[in-house]
Amino acid sequence: MIQAPKGTKDCLPQDSYKFQYIETIMRKHAALAGYREIRTPVFEHTELFLRGVGDTTDIVQKEMYTFLDKGGRSITLKPEGTAGAVRALIEGKLYAQAQPVKMYYINNPIFRYENPQHGRLREHHQFGLECFGAKEASADAEIISVLLHMLEEIGLDNLTVSINSIGCPVCRPKYHENLKEYLRENIEHLCINCKERFDKNPLRVLDCKIDSCKRLVKDAPVILDSLCEDCSTHFEQLKKLLVIAKVKFQINSRIVRGLDYYTKTVFEIIMHGHREGLALCGGGRYDGLVEQLDGPSLSGVGFGIGIERILMELENRGIDLPEPELFQIFVANIDKSSFAAAFELTLKLRESGFKAECDHVGRNLRAQFKYANKLGAGIMVIVGGEELERGNVKIRDMQSGSELELPVENAINKIMQMLKG
Ligand code: HAM
Repeated sequence: MIQAPKGTKDCLPQDSYKFQYIETIMRKHAALAGYREIRTPVFEHTELFLRGVGDTTDIVQKEMYTFLDKGGRSITLKPEGTAGAVRALIEGKLYAQAQPVKMYYINNPIFRYENPQHGRLREHHQFGLECFGAKEASADAEIISVLLHMLEEIGLDNLTVSINSIGCPVCRPKYHENLKEYLRENIEHLCINCKERFDKNPLRVLDCKIDSCKRLVKDAPVILDSLCEDCSTHFEQLKKLLVIAKVKFQINSRIVRGLDYYTKTVFEIIMHGHREGLALCGGGRYDGLVEQLDGPSLSGVGFGIGIERILMELENRGIDLPEPELFQIFVANIDKSSFAAAFELTLKLRESGFKAECDHVGRNLRAQFKYANKLGAGIMVIVGGEELERGNVKIRDMQSGSELELPVENAINKIMQMLKG
């Protein structure tokens, strides 16, 4: 039997309502704050991620799905959503529009060749907000506040955001020097990747998942102590605005995030009760990325959140999302000869906007009744027999069990009344 590739998950028809429920809330909150949807291709030129995400990150070094297409071009399945959004912004010249330019992506398939385990998929789906052209910390506070409001409406309240600032090209070189000085004494204990990162990008060492590296960086100097005045003021302003937005936050000077483009603000929300501290979502500011990808100098800030992790968090908390009814009305046929009339009435009910179903598998009346009950239909219409000869049908309220007979042409109006009442 052919199975789904390792690390992928089907969303089956009986579960898709959960995705749709979450997506409806996300779209609503994004629209309330002036974000419009962007859709970009599932694959991009590999160079976009090498230059955008950073060639010393785990994502680029270990996790990308990269292949040569038939034209010999190196193509990569999106390992994250921001670089594609920035590429589209530059290509579509959106930077010429009034700023900020706000966009969101939803149900965005993201591919990472990770070791599949609980919560780590090789294909997951992200929702994300990206805001371009707003340097002020209010943009950072806004996206964090939108994020928390949408999660709260989905049912995930009581979340704490961990924030940090990782500086900018002005203050980071000095921090790199301090960090290297600290690491140099123990360089032989660093993993092979971090030995390379030590020279190229020492900040990455702080994000390494290898135990020996994790132990080593525990007492490393923190970047918050080396921020320049601009970054420091920005961080202070962010904290002030988060208080105004009533966002519960804590400062975690260890957060550096797994992508290279961040400047100033970085933030994460960690899932409740997860051993390894799996992130529910993460984001931050990336003021250099647009320029780095050959666009104009334009700031950016955003976040990404995995829909599968939201579902995991809901499950961990024992929260069920409201399941919509599959059908409101089941139109049963008494025998084969009455099927055509039942079929016709079903189609008419659908034309009038009702979720209606009839029997497609030749069940007898009793089995149709059981099936309608199982589907949760509130009303059953019974078509056939003497009633049909009289030009009538029977309508049964499935909850009370009461039945009434009436002419077929009056059935739709009656059902409308019953469903309204
Ligand atoms: P990220 O932290 O790599 O950031 O991923 C964002 C979110 O995607 C995670 O917090 C998690 O919910 C989900 N996620 C990541 N990897 C997996 C996985 N293997 N399986 C399931 N879910 C996963 C970014 O991707 C940035 N582009 C976010 C961003 C947008 N920053 C600024 N703008």
